[in-house]
Amino acid sequence: MAPDQSSRGLLGARSDRRSFDKNDHSDSDSESDLDATEFLDHEAQTTSQPKPAFLSSPATRWKSSFARFLAGRSRRCLIVLVFVLGVWVLLGAGGTFAYKKYQQEPTYGLSPPWYPSPKGGIASTWADSYKKAAKMVDKMTLAEKVNVTTGTGWQMGLSVGTNGPAVHVGFPQLQLQDGPLGIRFADNITAFPAGITVGATWNRQLMFARGKAHAIEAREKGINVLLGPCVGPLGRMPAGGRNWEGFGADPYLQGIAGAETVKGIQSEGVMATIKHFVANEQEHFRQPWEWGLPHAVSSNIDDRALHELYAWPFGDAVKAGVASVMCSYNMVNNSYSCGNSKLLNGILKDELGFQGFVMSDWLAQRGGVSTALAGLDMTMPGDGVGWADGKSLWGPELTKAVLNGSVPVERINDMATRIVAAWYQLGQDDETKFPRQPPNFSSWTNDRLGVLAPGSPSPQPEVEVNKFLNVQANHSIIAREVAAEGTVLLKNDAGLLPLTRQGLPDAKLKARRSVLGRAMGKQHTGKFNIGIFGEDAGPGNGPNLCKDRGCNQGTLGSGWGSGAVEFPYLVTPIEALRSRFDASRVALHDYLVNKPPTSAMADAELCIVFANADSGEGFTKWDNVSGDRPNLDLQKGGDALITTVSSTCGGGYGDVIVVLHAVGPVLMEKWIDLPNVKAVLLANLPGQESGNALADVLFGDVNPSGHLPFTIGKALADYGPGGQVMYRPNGVVPQQDFTEGLYIDYRYFDKQGIEPRFEFGFGLSYTQFKYSGLEVTPRKAKSALPKERPSPAAEPPAYSTAVPGSKEVLFPEGFTVLEKYVYPYLRSVDEIVSDPYPYPDGWDTTQPLSGAGGAEGGNPDLWEVYVEVAVEVENVDGVAGAAVPQLYLEYPASGAEEGVDFPVRVLRGFEKVWLDRGQKKKVVFGLTRRDLSYWSVERQNWVMVVRGTYGFAVGESSRDVKVRGSW
Ligand code: BGC
Repeated sequence: MAPDQSSRGLLGARSDRRSFDKNDHSDSDSESDLDATEFLDHEAQTTSQPKPAFLSSPATRWKSSFARFLAGRSRRCLIVLVFVLGVWVLLGAGGTFAYKKYQQEPTYGLSPPWYPSPKGGIASTWADSYKKAAKMVDKMTLAEKVNVTTGTGWQMGLSVGTNGPAVHVGFPQLQLQDGPLGIRFADNITAFPAGITVGATWNRQLMFARGKAHAIEAREKGINVLLGPCVGPLGRMPAGGRNWEGFGADPYLQGIAGAETVKGIQSEGVMATIKHFVANEQEHFRQPWEWGLPHAVSSNIDDRALHELYAWPFGDAVKAGVASVMCSYNMVNNSYSCGNSKLLNGILKDELGFQGFVMSDWLAQRGGVSTALAGLDMTMPGDGVGWADGKSLWGPELTKAVLNGSVPVERINDMATRIVAAWYQLGQDDETKFPRQPPNFSSWTNDRLGVLAPGSPSPQPEVEVNKFLNVQANHSIIAREVAAEGTVLLKNDAGLLPLTRQGLPDAKLKARRSVLGRAMGKQHTGKFNIGIFGEDAGPGNGPNLCKDRGCNQGTLGSGWGSGAVEFPYLVTPIEALRSRFDASRVALHDYLVNKPPTSAMADAELCIVFANADSGEGFTKWDNVSGDRPNLDLQKGGDALITTVSSTCGGGYGDVIVVLHAVGPVLMEKWIDLPNVKAVLLANLPGQESGNALADVLFGDVNPSGHLPFTIGKALADYGPGGQVMYRPNGVVPQQDFTEGLYIDYRYFDKQGIEPRFEFGFGLSYTQFKYSGLEVTPRKAKSALPKERPSPAAEPPAYSTAVPGSKEVLFPEGFTVLEKYVYPYLRSVDEIVSDPYPYPDGWDTTQPLSGAGGAEGGNPDLWEVYVEVAVEVENVDGVAGAAVPQLYLEYPASGAEEGVDFPVRVLRGFEKVWLDRGQKKKVVFGLTRRDLSYWSVERQNWVMVVRGTYGFAVGESSRDVKVRGSW
């Protein structure tokens, strides 16, 4: 695909949201967004790798004296400074190195062309909505159609995104709001556990329930479209900054969790947005200028890995009927995702049969006409290539592009129809549920009164923008259940856990005391002494200290960025533990710092030590965490705290329980095998009910049933070359080659025979489960390819293709124009110029339709169950609890096309099964054609291995196989 001219070489301003953010705590240490200079300085300080030439460039050396020279000068000097700094940033961001590389900028658009954009309206599941939408869109003027597709600009509404309405036909302005774990920038909402915690529950019902509760809150706050769930990043790199927003480093788990969340959200009539399509695997260089480079990183992925890993969970979401897909910031194969016709037109709309609308991530649109042709349907927040500049790439530009024939009328019709159809599909035309008003809260102020478009400098009347409606209902129950079930018990030597309200059961306590007494020559009597250590157990300076939760202090309840919310409250571990232990029997001493006095530990008979690791979205950094983590270590001295507690607790003989809150895998090698580290709980990111959920598990009110949604390795290097974040650009368009193909996370560990510390899927319980009686029941005969692609179940709406008259796009008379607000109108018809548009290569070659497509979610045959695997699971130990039987597929050793190899095993089924003591239940896994197939690059379809034997391994993790079968 040829580059779209409007997107290239433009030096857009770096995105900077600081001045816009609600609750801007400007004194926080997380304040600084990254600019190129900070990036370079920071990298220079925090890495031991050799310094590339550009870091010691002369530009760096004269930076400070230059700044001093200009200090205190006039405004004119400042302008000069800005200009010079601009040049310096360019050179400094790579100096000679980048300059040279700039000469070698890779050809734009290496992703193959796929045109024209498939029209929505082919699926039976959406047929009624399309019929209704067609009637409405048919009555719209061109300006109205454009308005519906274009955001009004950053901060030009009360939510983080608003498009324009089509007033005359009764289509309202849509309100879009983050994010995956709650309603961002809102009061009186629930701060649910993050996606990674949801993934760790392995509980479909909870995935659904959390989505549903989230949507109820969204609807009651006046939101039409939720900007979640997130299934990309997938977690290729364990240190990736936003992995925690998604559900874990496996496409199947992400797919199920994403789809259940979509269903939950949409069951309440709110549109869900599955994001970020696709391969936004790291924060460094995710978008132009944020990291001092003029372009975003390109994730270069092969066709098979794209299908079997990165696009897979999006397929589940489409099958679940998701209304919207958000395309990502990064490039894929050197085409920006939001202008990548192969991804949007080819894979998403044709192959996966997506019927809703594609929206851009915030400023991820880098071209005007080209993105419309490539399949983008809505641009957000509507501004152009520069943050909050009001110079949209669509809006009036799209109007002109339709009038001068660059964008076919059919395309703008399809864009508007997809958006309106999604609105009908979710029943949002029902005004009793979705009153046509702005939301009842403002993302931009906590005051009751404010203006409706604070992003515009134009004077506006103040109105009531915050009604402080409490929408939490009883959602804290779901939040707590998810947090508790998403807590993974990693170690529990000698059954130390669960604790009792008195500390330990009497018999255990007696035994402990006599051991301790003998070892220390001092017999403890009286209250049981428990020490709680670590900042992560306590409140710090409150959960909302830093904007967008962009710093790590106090107990960690979520990561940071657009995926975080204002905590309405956060129950800290210490608060919950204090209220749960019986104070007449337990003396609880807490030291909520990471360097507690060692004397404090000596007297403790049991120590509970807390540590954490945080990360977040790349627009904010904290300490040495620039979005992505620099390593997998515990932060703020967590390892030292744990080892010190372990060596000094009870004079070195006390029992130690480690509790971790983390955005992903953390390394535990320094302490995991220490003999008195008896128990380890990974509570992930638990949200507002943190302490309560933790106490539920510690005291055994909830028997732990969380399992790891990723692998915990012994070293970051163990994740392989593909598992490493690219912290330094390797060119002006950083090229990140996903050469590991399918081999990420456990697929890599298994293939390389690397011993992880804790494998994917691992998690202990307070009881034991036995697996038996595996049965394989074929349901359909194997065949290599799915049935022929069905013909469309419905016809997309047909409209006139005549270019409309230009009069209908002029600003209506007497229209009040707000500065910087994005409108679809033109001031004069003279603005319409008719220079021929340089269409991309391949534009006039109609692509063959995919054999894998044909309906919503793709060829329906891919979703048919071909074989069932049943197992019996029995609770064979002391207490009731939930098992998580996991089914892993082992592809046939032979019989696939030449050169096609397979991971050792891949997850293809899981259930959460509640079992009373001694109870036995049968669990049946249905494997679909897609589950059993691989993506054949040769045949461009999903292929089942017909001659060969599939293996099924069912167990409690990716390595702990209990029973086997084959087909
Ligand atoms: C994030 C999206 C988010 C959007 C709106 C972007 O920076 O990548 O996930 O939905 O902002 O806040």
